[in-house]
Amino acid sequence: MKIAIIGTGYVGLVTAACLAEIGNTVTGVDVDARKIDLLNAGKVTIHEPGLPQLIARNRRAERLVFTTDHETAVRHAEVVFLAVGTPAEEDGSADLSHVIDAARLVGRHLHRPTVIVTKSTVPVGTAALVRAAVADELAARRLDLAFSVVSNPEFLKEGSAVSDFMHPDRIVLGYHDTSAAGIMRELYIPLLRQREQLIEIDARSAELSKYAANVMLAARISLMNELACLADAAGADIEAVRRCIGADARIGPHCLQAGIGYGGSCLPKDVKALIRTSVQYGCTPHMLKAAEAVNEKQKALLYRKICSHYGGVRRLEGKTFALWGLSFKPNTGDMREAPSLVLIEQLLKAYCGIRACDPVACEEAARELHGMHEAGRFSDRIHLTRDPWEAVEGADALVLVTEWSDFRTPDFARLAESLNDKVVFDGRNLYEPRHVQAAGLRYYGIGR
Ligand SMILES: NC(=O)c1ccc[n+]([C@@H]2O[C@H](COP(=O)([O-])OP(=O)(O)OC[C@H]3O[C@@H](n4cnc5c(N)ncnc54)[C@H](O)[C@@H]3O)[C@@H](O)[C@H]2O)c1
Repeated sequence: MKIAIIGTGYVGLVTAACLAEIGNTVTGVDVDARKIDLLNAGKVTIHEPGLPQLIARNRRAERLVFTTDHETAVRHAEVVFLAVGTPAEEDGSADLSHVIDAARLVGRHLHRPTVIVTKSTVPVGTAALVRAAVADELAARRLDLAFSVVSNPEFLKEGSAVSDFMHPDRIVLGYHDTSAAGIMRELYIPLLRQREQLIEIDARSAELSKYAANVMLAARISLMNELACLADAAGADIEAVRRCIGADARIGPHCLQAGIGYGGSCLPKDVKALIRTSVQYGCTPHMLKAAEAVNEKQKALLYRKICSHYGGVRRLEGKTFALWGLSFKPNTGDMREAPSLVLIEQLLKAYCGIRACDPVACEEAARELHGMHEAGRFSDRIHLTRDPWEAVEGADALVLVTEWSDFRTPDFARLAESLNDKVVFDGRNLYEPRHVQAAGLRYYGIGR
């Protein structure tokens, strides 16, 4: 099948590579010429396990090409995916301008009956707006072409995106009318183990299902974090509690890890957007607001623990903290809404030095930090490295922020020798407290 993917970010690039891998001919198009140049030079613009190999193989087989020219991409496509960003507006609602711009560009270049698929996360009712934008452009060209709009929310996780796409739990297809059902089934059935994994519903329910999934995860994380605070106060261990409730088949073991709050490009903005949608429809989003409030508080928790250990913020001045992990979660270079940024900001304000290590996200982190501050203002107090032991050199304390496997089993004796104040703040409950303590280090976790 001939496919165009508009937007070659995390979702678009993975979708393009995976659909090419199963035999389709795919053109990825982006307005970011730098991104397309890099892709055409054989470079991969994001860190995602397995993706470079997939892209290289399918480019060689001429099943995958990249361009900045929407016309080239759309002209021959039977299916066009919209995979552009939907960032949060100032008031929290989803900014649909990229989606509508992309839909208009598609309408401007359609030459044949085509299925237009919204893969971006979009609020209820967006399929109708996409349909109207395309119809407008066709009318301006006095062209009477049949096209359908399908809502196909994406559920992949950064860090395991290729595997998630190739082995999905389910594929959701939301139709306004079912004229596109045949072509969508033909496209996706090769990825499914069972026919039941294909969920075909109406477009509005499909749009809402993506937000529903993300806010469910966000609420679960926030509830665990709230319970972790209680465990801390009551002298219980949240890790033991987690094992107990995760064994309950009605609850299940996933997303029960207490930590320093959720981040990334999806959960924070999707919770905000669904709060706005709820209000627009006259519903009161009690649970969504609580999930968000708990998360905001949680992102400051490690800093509060650090202050309390040192006896107040004034005592922090001049201290140097080694941070292990910067990306919002392991196996990605994505720094969007990463909790590490909140901690860095707080430590810098308290006149601390930072020696931060991340296996992948250093460049992205440097860009984010430059964006947050006037160039160079804090640069003399932040040192970024890929080497965990370099980060620890001369540091007073270690803060584990992101649970990359590189940090899983460090030599605690060596840590104890390196850290002046012999203290570890574990923001992900990655370590067994008694292993850390056995090396003569003070240990702080979340809810233990
Ligand atoms: N990142 C994730 O893990 C994830 C998972 C599921 C769903 N989503 C959703 O998918 C959508 C895309 O997310 P992302 O993380 O891939 O975003 P991204 O910012 O990484 O990528 C979006 C890309 O679209 C390009 N773009 C914008 N307007 C364009 C246009 N008119 N024509 C061509 N290209 C255009 C941008 O230049 C950018 O490269 C969002 O709605 C997001 O909520 C993301």
